[in-house]
Amino acid sequence: MTTAVKDARRLYEFPKPDASGVCLTAQAWARVEPPATRAERTSAKQRIRELLRERNAVLVAHYYVDGDIQDLAEETGGCVADSLEMARFGRAHRASTLVVAGVRFMGETAKILNPEKTVLMPDLDATCSLDLGCPVDEFTTFCDANPDRTVVVYANTSASVKARADWMVTSSIALPIVEHLKARGEKILWAPDRHLGRYIQEETGADMLLWDGACIVHDEFRAAELGLLKAQHPGAKVLVHPESPRAVVVQADVVGSTSGLIQAVLDNPGGTFIVATDGGILHHMRKLAAPGTTLIEAPTAGSGATCKSCAHCPWMAMNSLRGVARVLEEGNNEIRVDDDIAARARISIERMLEFAAAHRIGGRPKAGGLSANPEAHGGLGPA
Ligand code: 13P
Ligand code: SF4
Repeated sequence: MTTAVKDARRLYEFPKPDASGVCLTAQAWARVEPPATRAERTSAKQRIRELLRERNAVLVAHYYVDGDIQDLAEETGGCVADSLEMARFGRAHRASTLVVAGVRFMGETAKILNPEKTVLMPDLDATCSLDLGCPVDEFTTFCDANPDRTVVVYANTSASVKARADWMVTSSIALPIVEHLKARGEKILWAPDRHLGRYIQEETGADMLLWDGACIVHDEFRAAELGLLKAQHPGAKVLVHPESPRAVVVQADVVGSTSGLIQAVLDNPGGTFIVATDGGILHHMRKLAAPGTTLIEAPTAGSGATCKSCAHCPWMAMNSLRGVARVLEEGNNEIRVDDDIAARARISIERMLEFAAAHRIGGRPKAGGLSANPEAHGGLGPA
């Protein structure tokens, strides 16, 4: 590791349950490169366009990454999307190489669904506090202690945890899948996000046993300050990602996945919105929003707290234009998943994709409704 890289590392705290279920505070780091100059960005973008063509590669980006990477993905025939749509897009695309700009679990999901494709990521250390907070050994102990429950895990987990699950879900499809399981009389073991799990449990009334994980970004949104902001903007709609704490979710007009929240902006042209999710989403919201739309970031614990309170995921921020160009040049940073783990994880992911196809859930936001299915809004609905 070079000194420059070491200096760029920041430490973050996250909850990590031990084998007995007690939640401890653990630490992880993220390494964010210094910002590039405008000239560097222009030249990196040009190089990436050329390399994508030369390598028969496509860029699959999440809404939280650098705005230039999002734009480049769209401009070059790739996609910018939520976790569900990233998985579907990568599987359907003919490119032999997928460059996944997001966090590690997104690259792993792409590889599990596309074992024949090369999957590259700008930085393999881009992780997620939910994934870190759900180590496979402790999780296996938890599952083994509750053998009567159907195991449903959020996409934000390692391949090994997905391999132990019956179903993998993303935030845009978690609610209908749990409703479906409840209708079949199944009891659920849910991991790792406790806020999303509790939200789904309250919405569906399903019998759910929850793992104690949290997203370090969404956990920082503050209910009291949000109430004050709402009072200042009485006409504003509050859009909340369900990884946020309950006291924030109950103030929402729309609770949804990243695609669901963008769709809400499109459905209310010219409106005012308070947005409680990673600030990276504002780039795409601004691009699609009708003239006169006002977007306000929801309050967090603020700069007086820790640097994770900036409402921007430190691991998503590890995706840089330089990093995208570098992996395409060098072909390094390839995602590899053990064959046996991948085969087992694929079952839980495919189950979700089949459910999404059968119920026409998902798609990318678009005026008039989500592009894959005008009837389904990809979000979780009103609070
Ligand atoms: P979405 O599936 O809604 O894009 O969420 C992914 C994520 O990591 C949110 O923090
Ligand atoms: Fe994970 Fe939160 Fe970052 Fe999403 S925003 S990738 S849940 S740490």
